[in-house]
Amino acid sequence: MGNYMSNPDQFILDFYRDVAQRFGHSSQSTMKDHVIRRAEEEFFIEEIKRYMKERNPRPVIADMGCGNGHLLKVLRETFPQCELMGIEFTPELYELAVAREIPRCVILQGDIRDPKALPTKADVIITERVLINLLSDNDKQKAAQAIAQQLSVQGRLLMSESFLESWRKLNTARREVKLSPIPQSKQNRYMSEYDIQDYFPLGFVELKGIFSPHHLSTHFYFSRIYHHLMRPEGGQLQETEFVDFFDEAIGPGIGQYSPIQFRVLEKIV
Ligand SMILES: C[S@@+](CC[C@H](N)C(=O)[O-])C[C@H]1O[C@@H](n2cnc3c(N)ncnc32)[C@H](O)[C@@H]1O
Repeated sequence: MGNYMSNPDQFILDFYRDVAQRFGHSSQSTMKDHVIRRAEEEFFIEEIKRYMKERNPRPVIADMGCGNGHLLKVLRETFPQCELMGIEFTPELYELAVAREIPRCVILQGDIRDPKALPTKADVIITERVLINLLSDNDKQKAAQAIAQQLSVQGRLLMSESFLESWRKLNTARREVKLSPIPQSKQNRYMSEYDIQDYFPLGFVELKGIFSPHHLSTHFYFSRIYHHLMRPEGGQLQETEFVDFFDEAIGPGIGQYSPIQFRVLEKIV
């Protein structure tokens, strides 16, 4: 297996080859938590609907780091009128995405850092936990530049990415109640607000999203803190009625405890 320090690209490829083999076409591939997966889909769908109303009723949509193609399938069913594109770095996940045979959807093996990865410009670019797989500041900046070059003017960048600032807040809250901090996985290097600022000189502004950036905060608080405190030994660990109940009772977006944030940027020039 590639070493994440000496050969980060190979480390990522090895990691996701294993994911492809273990999860195939499952919606749990790269995301076991069904609440997060569903919220991400709702975020992308609602923001695309808004874009269609405000800017362009038939946008070209690109999913960068599309994994096994799960989101592209959902987008195809939701937006039959739109052209879709997917870029995926890991050959085994790329093959799974292609095997879905999604109509009017071009899927290419490629790299989010490549300014020529997409065959045409996109009106909406999606990154769903992929910028965090770029393990250096330099690679994150390259990706920002490549995205800026491939997005049409007035196009929107929809991110579901993990951020250091809210990850630290989650761990502060865990420490308070004697839970150990949750580490970042080795295949990830979370974004920071500084990474978002890199987009502004490239012609982007940040928009207020339909969902709060911290939409998943309530869920993280209940699933990563409260549930651990309340669960008796041997009690169910994941996908619990307990967490579903509190998520629904309290409602989304309370606090800033979700490392995963939903961000919306528009390219204005
Ligand atoms: C956390 S997974 C998310 C996949 C998919 N968006 C999903 O939600 O299932 C990150 C994905 O980004 C891909 N990836 C990592 N580095 C990439 C790069 N430089 N260019 C394009 N894709 C990349 C990985 O192979 C993996 O499929």
